[in-house]
Amino acid sequence: MPSTSVFGAQWGDEGKGKIIDRLAREADIVARYQGGANAGHTVVVADEKYVLHLIPSGILHPGKINVIGNGVAVDPLVLLEEVDGLRQRGIAVDGSNLVVSAGAHLILEHHKRLDILSERWKGTGRIGTTGRGIGPAYADKCSRTGLRVGDLLDADRFRERLEATLIEKNAWIAKVHGEEPFDLEQSFQRYAAIGERLAPFVRDTGALLRRSYAEGRSILFEGAQGMLLDLDHGTYPYVTSSNTGVGGIGPGAGFPPSKIDRAIGIAKAYCTRVGEGPFPSEDHGAQGERLRELGCEYGATTGRPRRCGWFDAVSARYTLELNGADGWVMTNLDVLTSFEEIPVAVAYEARGERYAEYPASLPSLDGIEVVLEKRPGWKEDITGVRRYEDLPQAARAYVEWVEEAVGTPIVLLSVGPERDQVIPRGI
Ligand code: IMP
Repeated sequence: MPSTSVFGAQWGDEGKGKIIDRLAREADIVARYQGGANAGHTVVVADEKYVLHLIPSGILHPGKINVIGNGVAVDPLVLLEEVDGLRQRGIAVDGSNLVVSAGAHLILEHHKRLDILSERWKGTGRIGTTGRGIGPAYADKCSRTGLRVGDLLDADRFRERLEATLIEKNAWIAKVHGEEPFDLEQSFQRYAAIGERLAPFVRDTGALLRRSYAEGRSILFEGAQGMLLDLDHGTYPYVTSSNTGVGGIGPGAGFPPSKIDRAIGIAKAYCTRVGEGPFPSEDHGAQGERLRELGCEYGATTGRPRRCGWFDAVSARYTLELNGADGWVMTNLDVLTSFEEIPVAVAYEARGERYAEYPASLPSLDGIEVVLEKRPGWKEDITGVRRYEDLPQAARAYVEWVEEAVGTPIVLLSVGPERDQVIPRGI
């Protein structure tokens, strides 16, 4: 397929890294278009675990071009650290396999500080951000005061723009939050020194993507976070600050949405969420705890324990429809092995009303309850299964019932963290 979008259909951490890694084998280019180092894609290759925060997973495949598009919020320190880390493990990274948009906004140290201070300020109303400076950097982009990767390549321009922004940020840091302001000279020296190192990677990535597509090369757009964390369509305000789905590709990659040929959603066989905000099918009891332990549900970026609960057919229907998904991948099916019964959320209830469709006003629906239906579980280890017909009957019944409830075909099942632990059903 010439261009494919892969997006998270829940609250992030759906196991996109592994699926993107698989699809990357057939792609010429892997591109990110939103988010920043708040993401954490884990890929296991021959017992080696790679956690990538900014660099697309295609970097683990020789010969692919990996693009960090203009819509990504780039923390240049994290980017270079990741480049160094990969090189130390013997993976070649240079301007031929990694390109960064000159128009991508920078996350600088004051963004990270302000992210943390703003969360502290909000107290119990906090969002539970990753503290990576995402919100403050995107806020500057919209306020038209942000600095971009291209600015780093011109020291005079960078200094001028940094000074202009730091005056305001320092006033916030010192006067509102009562903390130590940043020193312009130190900040400037810290970042100016890395401009030179970044220069070989910087390109007009939109032009590269459009031309490559026109020449018949295949592109994989790698979504970060998940659709329920989307700035516009997620559980606002408990969201991230970018458009995480297919809709983010146009503005975030400089690629025409009319040329996106296929959209694939990724969702776990149950649900997790990190940070605050609504999670209707969350299980606060022993079963939720068991899901966390069996699924090793701890954040790849922050190490925070993830909140766990059951598959939510209402929100999955919504996110897959919103993205016009052609199919979806169900991940972590193996984690459900050994549960007697597996509940699935099939509707919501709030204030005496039943919702079969995802309510756009979800964050304000206090005391939302889910209607759960239970399916029989299975006891057999399925991590070694590679053909659909070899799955236990109860596992197949669960998959088919969920597929029916969601209304979009499941094209692949994932039954373990390794690259080959998958069961194809269409891709
Ligand atoms: P931010 O993106 O750091 O501003 O965080 C906003 C919300 O999105 C918080 O609830 C985070 O926990 C969540 N979030 C951000 N990135 C990820 C991710 O990659 N996986 C899961 N949750 C995420």
